[in-house]
Amino acid sequence: MAGGPEPVEGDEQHDQHSSVPESGVLGDIPERPERLRASGGLGSRRPLPTFPDRLDKPDEISDASVRQPSADRSALIQQMAASVVLRPDGTFDVPVKLTYAGAQGAREWIAAAQDPDYVLREAELHLVEGFFSELRADVDEIIEFGPGDGYKAAQIVGRLAQHDLRYTAFDSSNELLDAARLTLSEVRDKKGELNLQLEFLTLDLEDPTAIASTKRPSRGDGETVGMLLGQTLGNPTNEGRVNMLRNIHARLPENGQLLIGVALVPDDQKTIEQTLTAYRAESQQRQSLIALEHLGVADAGKLDIVWDDASNTVVGHFTFDQDVTVAGTALSFRRGQKAQVLNSHRFTETELVQLLNDTGFHDVKVMKSASFPYALASARVVEKENAS
Ligand SMILES: C[S@@+](CC[C@H](N)C(=O)[O-])C[C@H]1O[C@@H](n2cnc3c(N)ncnc32)[C@H](O)[C@@H]1O
Repeated sequence: MAGGPEPVEGDEQHDQHSSVPESGVLGDIPERPERLRASGGLGSRRPLPTFPDRLDKPDEISDASVRQPSADRSALIQQMAASVVLRPDGTFDVPVKLTYAGAQGAREWIAAAQDPDYVLREAELHLVEGFFSELRADVDEIIEFGPGDGYKAAQIVGRLAQHDLRYTAFDSSNELLDAARLTLSEVRDKKGELNLQLEFLTLDLEDPTAIASTKRPSRGDGETVGMLLGQTLGNPTNEGRVNMLRNIHARLPENGQLLIGVALVPDDQKTIEQTLTAYRAESQQRQSLIALEHLGVADAGKLDIVWDDASNTVVGHFTFDQDVTVAGTALSFRRGQKAQVLNSHRFTETELVQLLNDTGFHDVKVMKSASFPYALASARVVEKENAS
């Protein structure tokens, strides 16, 4: 799926023996922490939130090549069309972040993330719990970038054995921010003894202009932990990844920590094939096409999902089989043109450490999953003048 939960290599999704990994399967992860109470249950699976469905009404098609959006969808479509970039090689780049936009994008992502076959969700959570279990100080604040539905944060917050905590989330999808607000509010309501202050802010982490326009928060007495989970860093272009990390760096206090979960380059061809099989599943393909669906052109061609060896990336190309124009925008596609709608870069450990160092994060520690080509890295924020 383009922007949805990353399919898991090894296709454990279809392997009866590996639904949710058993405790300890993921390597040297300590048992559930002193600092985390084994209360569980908070923020667990629950009905999907309902979003206004006015954005999901089908387009009115008045002409074979011009798709007319209903009036309510126009603003979203204008915004999406403006984000589609024509590269010098003639391919359109449809940013993966667009797949989360609108009610449909949020709903599809949440449904896929809640699929019991999507084992990476619990596997990554287990690594994150291991990290929190080893912290020696109380956590003042968790700042999450791209929280999705807030499930992972709810599990962590629900188990922290302390009385005061701030949780702040940044996301480009207002609908996913709403879902995260709902999830974290439930935790606050259930954990009466926890003074949990919540804040949810709209931000495009790939926007370079948002880097300098923020004021770095000051340090508290305890730890501030930033989180960018679920392979979110793998979806933007190279430039977008740098902007994402710089935006995050600017929003964490000096010496604050960042936890970042990424998919690693698979070791062998078999794993690559299994990864592609997972991405080619019907539901995943539907998710990859959400942005084109919003633009009303998802039926005007065919999607191919391939592994690009040169860039270690799962790539989805949509090839148009007819000329088509998105009404009310300057965006049009010609027969034979391609649009890249899926970009899921796999990292080497060295590359991840280098990228974090280049964007102002130091003291990088990488915890690898024993079950999947997946890693959780922690790193500390160093302001430029203090960086060695
Ligand atoms: C793959 S989901 C991961 C969700 C959650 N962190 C998890 O691990 O389950 C990506 C999340 O990042 C958000 N996101 C993606 N690109 C973004 C961008 N450029 N700026 C802000 N948020 C973005 C999406 O809206 C979504 O909430």
